[in-house]
Amino acid sequence: MTPFSPHLVAAAAALLGLLATAVAGGGTGAYTRVFSFGDSLTDTGNALHLPSTGGGGGPASRPPYGETFFRRPTGRASDGRLAVDFIVEALRLRHPAPYLAAGGETAAEFRHGVNFAVGGSTALPPEFYEGRGLKPFVPVSLANQTAWFDKVLQILGSSDHGRRKIMASSLFIVGEIGVNDYLVSLVGNLTVGEVETSVVPHIVAAIRSTVNEVIAAGATTVVVPGMIPLGCEPQLLALYQGGGGGGVAGDDYDPESGCMTRLNGLAEHHNRELRRAVAELRGAHPGASVVVAYADLYRAVADIVASPGRHGFGGAPLAACCGAGAGAYNFDMAAFCGAAGSTACADPSTYVSWDGVHFTEAANRHIACAVLEAGAPPAVSTAPMTWPAAAEAGRSRIGCS
Ligand SMILES: *[C@@H]1O[C@H](CO)[C@@H](O)[C@H](O)[C@H]1NC(C)=O
Ligand SMILES: *[C@@H]1O[C@H](CO)[C@@H](O)[C@H](O)[C@H]1NC(C)=O
Repeated sequence: MTPFSPHLVAAAAALLGLLATAVAGGGTGAYTRVFSFGDSLTDTGNALHLPSTGGGGGPASRPPYGETFFRRPTGRASDGRLAVDFIVEALRLRHPAPYLAAGGETAAEFRHGVNFAVGGSTALPPEFYEGRGLKPFVPVSLANQTAWFDKVLQILGSSDHGRRKIMASSLFIVGEIGVNDYLVSLVGNLTVGEVETSVVPHIVAAIRSTVNEVIAAGATTVVVPGMIPLGCEPQLLALYQGGGGGGVAGDDYDPESGCMTRLNGLAEHHNRELRRAVAELRGAHPGASVVVAYADLYRAVADIVASPGRHGFGGAPLAACCGAGAGAYNFDMAAFCGAAGSTACADPSTYVSWDGVHFTEAANRHIACAVLEAGAPPAVSTAPMTWPAAAEAGRSRIGCS
């Protein structure tokens, strides 16, 4: 008898094959990279490279941004890591390359995933706003990000089969996107009612279109984060303080949280429509081969604001850590975080809002946990990529409660 019986060899070969599949993420659970789309809540360095913002300008390029983690400004709009950073940590993946920071020429640059999110980006294109006399902050919409994805797709693989294999083992995160659309609309004096009827449906359609594109390219796991509670944002609370501005009544506060109910209502409306779209997307891709999961960012943030102490935060969940103005919200547009006259709090980990617009690293961890908790329909246990299991393991890795 030879030391290697045919049976053993066959068994060993099968085991090696299994291991190889697992390592390559080709069908047994592990994701190999992340592709993300969105705005400043997800931008890890793209806006820095946008010529229209002065190329390298913007508060996030200056201290004290990055003071808690990275220990230098990286273009992230926070004192440290963003939710997407925690998600790749949780899944033990490399950080996806910010698309505009990469040279955009070689597959090697994008092999570990790509982050297409740009600070200031809207879901809807400039043409949508021009017709309404409104002006977006930057010339980037979800359509640009999707077009960049198509370019990356061509760069990554020459064969359709090869490309689809890469997409199938990747995690896609489409959003949060839409905050800037709402800011542009509200600052431009559209009423909340007008925004709900004439802007929300277009934003949800734009998100749905991007999800459809990535699925068409071979994506099998797409997480769609919803809208944050707009009415709890220090910037908007300060803007509408005293009843000023457009169609948002100033006296319309939730007595418990102090957040503005009309703006939170807009966010909840967005989320209802988005969840409906997610359900339809699942219906359009029946069976267990594609996971489309909705992530409840609204609840993640609203929970901290409602009971900050229970989640390890301090007693001022509606005040910016870094800013000026001293009022309840510590927000003054003229002395934005990093500008002359602004100061950062001593311990950002006790604040929800970093600069009145964006979250602290501590809050971003909670948001990442919400993304990793994103609900997938029960049938997905046989999906090629086991989203619920991978996400659950990742949650404990980054300390989600
Ligand atoms: C985004 O797309 C629009 C319209 O196609 C284009 O005008 C704009 O330059 C693009 N933005 C960037 C940063 O490429
Ligand atoms: C919005 O309304 C305020 C006052 O109600 C006005 O000062 C401001 O110019 C308006 N903004 C736009 C973009 O129309």
